[in-house]
Amino acid sequence: MKGLILSGGKGTRLRPLTYTRAKQLLPLANKPVLFYAIEAILNTGIREIGIVVGDTHEEIRAAVGDGSRWGDDVRIEFIQQSAPLGLAHAVLTAREFIGDDRFILFLGDNLIGERLNPLIDSFAAEDCPYHCRILLTPVENPREFGVAELEPLSTDAAIIIESDGAPSEQPERRVRRLIEKPKDPPSDLALVGVYCFDHHIFEAAESIRPSARGELEITDAIQWLIDQGYDVRPHLLRSYWIDTGKMEDILDANRQALKGLAPSIDPTATIADDVTLQGDVTVQAGATIRNSTVRGPAIIGERAVIENAYVGPFSSIYHDAQILNSEVEYCIVLEHSRIVGVPGRIEASLIGRYVEVAASHVKPHAHKLMLGDYSKVGLLDN
Ligand code: TTP
Repeated sequence: MKGLILSGGKGTRLRPLTYTRAKQLLPLANKPVLFYAIEAILNTGIREIGIVVGDTHEEIRAAVGDGSRWGDDVRIEFIQQSAPLGLAHAVLTAREFIGDDRFILFLGDNLIGERLNPLIDSFAAEDCPYHCRILLTPVENPREFGVAELEPLSTDAAIIIESDGAPSEQPERRVRRLIEKPKDPPSDLALVGVYCFDHHIFEAAESIRPSARGELEITDAIQWLIDQGYDVRPHLLRSYWIDTGKMEDILDANRQALKGLAPSIDPTATIADDVTLQGDVTVQAGATIRNSTVRGPAIIGERAVIENAYVGPFSSIYHDAQILNSEVEYCIVLEHSRIVGVPGRIEASLIGRYVEVAASHVKPHAHKLMLGDYSKVGLLDN
């Protein structure tokens, strides 16, 4: 099997951050979200991955390289998509790379909390009769997602492999229908951004028409497979799934990534005697912490400086950032940004690169802002 990761797209929901950076390179616990997708696929044993890229291809190629950072036997190839014309269009772009192989498709801005081996192992088997497998997870608000309707239970029960690797006698049902943002959801099972396909998906993607938003939708392509009688089966995700394509979910994804991080202190970091580190704290190379409290899970990036400060749980301070005389909690602060002498605590915030947030002592006593397009600021009202 091969892996295919989609890392093009428009990223409109993440403006202004996506004006200057590929959203798939936004770090969670100081590691690009795209790397989690690559590692999830490599952990299944797959060694060949194609990454579909768009306008931000240079940045993504530079960050990922040829795959050798993950091992000598890993091969990563980049596939240029002419324009962000939809997920099914992106899959078509990769037709030559995939050839006749079966493959796993992973959206490059999605994060999932469990190993993909049970999904891959059953689909990769020589005698697997299925043409497609889709990952589904129960959600509270199915009206906001692509939702799957399964066929009623029948007697042709197959054995399914649970996510813990143990076989279960639970009958596996076919997928009957996929519906985007249904008004009247037939189930609470949302489509997660991970799919397994055989080569029939290319015929499907060629056969469908662009949707109302002008994109070739992957859900339409899968529905085409179902309508043509191909066998599409579900696989239930037991752990979390986060689509980091939306701002509000990035902090949650960062929280999950930090929970999975084994704490470590790099020997080149400087941590003064007056510093309190509580819980799981990772301090990366060349970071300096003085007269501060860092409460984990948290990560302090390379050459970052934390001085007279408090860094609270679920915070990621990226490379070369500085938190001076200030307090942050449940935040991501990206590289080279400075938070200096800010009164009160900054919480639940995502701060871009080269940003300066500082107390002003110059009259008139007022908020002074220079914000890019689509920025969001929440000021205290007292
Ligand atoms: P989406 O988040 O669905 O789309 P988008 O990136 O255009 O974002 P927005 O809706 O905020 O404008 O895309 C999911 C993943 O697939 C993401 O990593 C980008 C990638 N993608 C492509 O590679 N090609 C495409 O044509 C599209 C639409 C997305």
